Amino acid sequence: MSPTLLQEGSDHHALAGAKNAAFAYSDPLSEIPALSGVDISADGSTPIIDMEALLGPHRSEVIKQIGIACEKNGFFAVKNHGIPEMKINNMLDTAREFFHLPDEERLKFRSADPDSVIRLVTGFQDKTRNVFVSRQSLKFHCHPVEEYKSHWPSNPPSFRENVGEYCASVRKVEVAILEAISESLDLERDYIDKILKGHYVSINYYPACQESELDVTYGVRTHTDPTLITILMQDDVPGLQVINDDKWINVNPISNAVVVHVGDILQAISNYKYKSLLHQAIVNCEKERVSIASYCYPSDDAMIGPAKKLVDKVHPAIYKDFTYREFHESMWRVKCSTAKRLDLFKASTD
Ligand code: OGA
Ligand code: NI
Repeated sequence: MSPTLLQEGSDHHALAGAKNAAFAYSDPLSEIPALSGVDISADGSTPIIDMEALLGPHRSEVIKQIGIACEKNGFFAVKNHGIPEMKINNMLDTAREFFHLPDEERLKFRSADPDSVIRLVTGFQDKTRNVFVSRQSLKFHCHPVEEYKSHWPSNPPSFRENVGEYCASVRKVEVAILEAISESLDLERDYIDKILKGHYVSINYYPACQESELDVTYGVRTHTDPTLITILMQDDVPGLQVINDDKWINVNPISNAVVVHVGDILQAISNYKYKSLLHQAIVNCEKERVSIASYCYPSDDAMIGPAKKLVDKVHPAIYKDFTYREFHESMWRVKCSTAKRLDLFKASTD
């Protein structure tokens, strides 16, 4: 099962521009912020973690910084992550080439099955809210690379090699960061790695703004990710925004750094110490934008409740124990705001 994102209504809508797209999911309007209220010129200050320092004598200090960033901000940027710059550039170039292909070439990957090993999701109009969501994404499993590679596009011809190399490198970052996050919670180093299963990549393509008769165009609307953590690689075009201290802030690209943010599953494991980050992407009219999201998710049978070590009289369990399979199934069954998905798994208070 993949950590498919529901909030986009992705399996219920038709192609960009389609009229009357059925939309099975409903966010209260109040949960969709007005973009006009966002100051896009301001860059929030992004905590920066030096991953190289995790391997050196100052590991415990870096772990502390990671813990503070997860608790206070819900995200941080990682530099010196070890993914070679060439692999990053190849990945971004390949992503652009794929989305510049003719429609018929890309649309081969369209699928209504959220569990298919690869699928293309296109932009859509949500007329009930007068919103156009412009993101197109190619979503696929990629760990282990050799198991899934044959399902990936063979056009552009560099796709499998470049994407495979990027995914294998990101996997190492995921494991190292999850180890550090476990330690930041005072858990054994491999506490989270033990339940980690795969990662699922979403190559996101945001065309330069398109004409729409609707009020608002989003890249992707406000949501949390149903992941342990998400590792986002952005190109050099800003667009990512996150909520910090009840305000939207921009997380502008930092050259050769990736953004790591807390997802729903880590919120549950940490017993609500680390909160799943509310984020969105906006578009601009001058430039297309590409980002690569790697969603780290646990195996289906993994027990996801709060780590026992984090529960005591002062910190009662906020969530009950549940499996990732139960969580994933409920995402499809129960239509609610992504930020409320975990409420279904709250511990009873009596
Ligand atoms: C995502 C996401 C944001 C971005 O893929 O889940 O939130 O900036 N992407 O592309
Ligand atoms: Ni996201």
